[in-house]
Amino acid sequence: MEILRTPAEFRAWSRSERAAGRTHGFVPTMGALHEGHASLLRRAGELTDSVSLSIYVNPTQFGPREDFSKYPRTWEHDLEIAAREGAKAVFAPENIYPEGYRTEVVVPGWNSVLEGAIRPGHFDGVASVVAKLFHAAECDVAVFGQKDAQQALLIRRMVRDLDFDLKLVVAPTVREADGLAMSSRNRYLTVDDRQRALVISRALRASVVAWETGCRSPEEILACGWRELGATPPDSVDYYTLLDPDSLDVLDTHAELRGPAILVVAARYGATRLLDNAVLGPVWD
Ligand code: PAJ
Repeated sequence: MEILRTPAEFRAWSRSERAAGRTHGFVPTMGALHEGHASLLRRAGELTDSVSLSIYVNPTQFGPREDFSKYPRTWEHDLEIAAREGAKAVFAPENIYPEGYRTEVVVPGWNSVLEGAIRPGHFDGVASVVAKLFHAAECDVAVFGQKDAQQALLIRRMVRDLDFDLKLVVAPTVREADGLAMSSRNRYLTVDDRQRALVISRALRASVVAWETGCRSPEEILACGWRELGATPPDSVDYYTLLDPDSLDVLDTHAELRGPAILVVAARYGATRLLDNAVLGPVWD
């Protein structure tokens, strides 16, 4: 497995793979890899010949009150997972912002919905760094997780708007056996909160079951989830709502659901915010 430290090195590696007739599948990450990330590497391996990943804790997507320096860094463990999943290259730059960096990729409106409202500037940092990573990667396929659904929708918008010549694939959320969505943040939960947090996936499940059994009322679909959340309440719920995946509008709870929708939730346990979601219909096709 090659460790590449600069965008130029990564691009040269990608070009040599493709010149040899191999397709390149790329998985951007911030490290602290778990089975969710591993599943993305596997998906990339199913779709392409040569898999790479980036490990870069991107400072520009952290807010002033979010602790960039405390983001978990587990380099040795990450390399083991990457090697186990057959990755051929790891792009791990120390810094990818040149002196005097100013340019940003902004998706207006979409950067201030739900997660964007709670984390101002976050999605500008994400879109910008992913654009830079894509330019370096020159990949055929890029794989993202549904776990960060708003991020995946935003990147899909950016890829379409700016003509990135790659196929974006969104892979399902990997969960612990008890339903908790895997996340680098789970390590910050107390044993008690870890148990209480199972209500998040139960709430989503209740809403999905309502939808699967024919309910098309957003109000009722959401109410099924809220009933679960009410039984074992998180410390607080930032949102439990339905989004239109094409416009990113929060759906009107009184209008009948016609197309696919995405049900997104963010809940807090102490200082830890957990995100999860479920798709209602073919959101990623
Ligand atoms: P990170 O949080 O490391 O996530 C990297 C990728 O792993 C994302 O596409 C995310 O959705 C996916 N992922 C996380 N948990 C998952 C799970 N339980 N199941 C499936 N996929 C999961 O997202 C980022 O990094 C950054 O914002 C990045 C895109 C790298 C830009 O800095």
